[in-house]
Amino acid sequence: MNDESLQNTSEQAITPEKLNYLKELTQHYYNIDSLAKYMDVYRISKNDPEDFWNTIAERNFEWRKKWDSVLKWNPKKAEVTWFEGAQLNITENAIDRHLETRGNKTAIIWEPNDPEEKTLYISYNELSKRVNKMANVLKKNGIKKGDRVCIYLPMIPELAIATLACARIGAVHSVVFAGFSALALSSRINDSECKMLITADGSYRGSKSINLKGIVDEAMGDTPSIECVLVVKQTSSDIEMVKDRDIWLHDELNQVDDKCEAEVMDAEDTLFILYTSGSTGTPKGMVHTTAGYMVYTAFSFKNVFQYQENDVYWCTADIGWITGHSYIVYGPLLNGATTLMFEGVPSYPDYGRFWEIVEKHKVNQFYTAPTAIRALAKQDVEFVDKHDISSLKVLGTVGEPINEEAWNWYYENIGKRKCPIVDTWWQTETGGIMISPIPFVTPTKPTFATLPLPGIQPSLMDDKGEELKGNSVSGKLCIKHPWPSMARTVYGNHQRYIDTYFSAFENLYFTGDGALRDEVGYYRITGRVDDVIIVSGHNLGTAPIEDAINEHPAVAESAIVGFAHKVKGNALAGFVILKNEGESRDKQNLSKEINQLISSKIGPIAKLDRIHFVSGLPKTRSGKIMRRIMRKISSNEGDQIGDISTLLDPDIVEEIKEKVQPFL
Ligand code: PRX
Repeated sequence: MNDESLQNTSEQAITPEKLNYLKELTQHYYNIDSLAKYMDVYRISKNDPEDFWNTIAERNFEWRKKWDSVLKWNPKKAEVTWFEGAQLNITENAIDRHLETRGNKTAIIWEPNDPEEKTLYISYNELSKRVNKMANVLKKNGIKKGDRVCIYLPMIPELAIATLACARIGAVHSVVFAGFSALALSSRINDSECKMLITADGSYRGSKSINLKGIVDEAMGDTPSIECVLVVKQTSSDIEMVKDRDIWLHDELNQVDDKCEAEVMDAEDTLFILYTSGSTGTPKGMVHTTAGYMVYTAFSFKNVFQYQENDVYWCTADIGWITGHSYIVYGPLLNGATTLMFEGVPSYPDYGRFWEIVEKHKVNQFYTAPTAIRALAKQDVEFVDKHDISSLKVLGTVGEPINEEAWNWYYENIGKRKCPIVDTWWQTETGGIMISPIPFVTPTKPTFATLPLPGIQPSLMDDKGEELKGNSVSGKLCIKHPWPSMARTVYGNHQRYIDTYFSAFENLYFTGDGALRDEVGYYRITGRVDDVIIVSGHNLGTAPIEDAINEHPAVAESAIVGFAHKVKGNALAGFVILKNEGESRDKQNLSKEINQLISSKIGPIAKLDRIHFVSGLPKTRSGKIMRRIMRKISSNEGDQIGDISTLLDPDIVEEIKEKVQPFL
């Protein structure tokens, strides 16, 4: 079922009647409900991608003006445009067009951290009013089309509303996950010179209350572009409001109208920036534009979750990540769906919380991450069994490879062997789901993302730059043809975009992942092949963490690697060389200080589980750190490190083995 077998299905099978029938299907997206239909649709999308996307875009969205060209693609310069010449506003598609038929339908269900607190049901009518009002608040405070607005909010309705309010007036949102540190926040604000910051006085996470505004105040010491901080009252904690800078959202909302004309946007105007870790240096601000992102997220949401009109859909991600952007906010709302937003964590007040919410709202599609599944699978199955979760139809997973044990637990205990699992592979950069089963259509296979969605052409490459044809092969995962929701550039640094994604292989987008294609053409993602480590589903680049460690005055040099962890997927191990004066320091205290430093520079998610103080690192004669060696030793595969003769100092390997041994 890979490229080859798709080509082999006879081209003559497409008669003019059949083509018409397939085109008819696009009236309501391609409603793919059989494997045969998937094969037909996939082949059409591959034979003529432009015609395919032209049809999808034309029949399923509202445009102020149609496009002059579907796709322009210059692979040498990595320049791509989709639907050039078209004009639209994404909020007219995600909100306004539903008002006549779905005005009273719930758009967002908001489930608070504390189960005793009130759930909110926000209808499309109310969402429209709240987005329009917030948009007017932004305008009143000087935000115009093209201005960047940073959003640093917990999972409260204002987070979704703020993103849509930006889109309403053509401002570019840059959401920063509210678990990031002050420094991570300020560096992201400065990179894209945001004019405004939207935040809250505080946030709740389980039994903890977090002083979000305190972090913001710290970040604001170094963010000259910010003119105004808009503050949502959430925890009513005692905070300082800085004169001429901080304003309360509720005060502002009292002063504006609930109607705000949608800004007419060009197809390629930027919709948002979202930062992702790179394997080197500073985070990359991935730029997503309006029309292509809209078309692809809507199309993929509809097909991957098989959302039906009265379903309740829940994605447990945070809107601070791409999963939340595409599949809590835009994808569902573009389809007129009911999307659930959860403020809290899976373990509060106990490990049954997810299943309690599924029961309470009769959730039909549930989309989460392997790390959450593994954490929940470790608990007593009682936490699941005391809830009626029979409403579930489709289960999803995203963010990292899912191991077979977790897959099976999910399938049996949550899906009761009747819900297909959609293992969705994609990236911040791809904007939408790329490889995934279509539920009830694609037979699933544990740990396999299975087949590409229509319009997506994966290819596996070997190290010599040759494409691996046929089945039962593994290599580096690339994508051949542009797709509408691909990121267009790295904000302010197009060269970095070219270098990272388009220079490894000619004319191909390189994902940074390794994958295998099995004997029937199913894809399984095997993990990163670069220096990005995925911890609990979060991408972490090695370089920024090492930079943080190296800032400690006692540290001379460091290297970090990932090692397998039962819940997090990967955890981090740091190998640290101390300066002479550091040698006499208490190692436990030093470890604590190093982790505090990482927390303050990046965020608690980047903390090291193990810290080893060593006298040297395994380096090649040219000075390159061989992380592979430390990775193998940390994963208890020290007997498989292979040839170390190219190392400058092979003896260091023994020392590293000794230091790591007690942790294995
Ligand atoms: O390595 C792949 C892994 O997550 C990376 C992308 O991370 P991020 O940009 O944060 O986006 C995560 C949410 C889309 C990928 O390069 N990844 C994502 N989904 C899967 C996965 N690995 C294996 N299986 C998946 N389903």
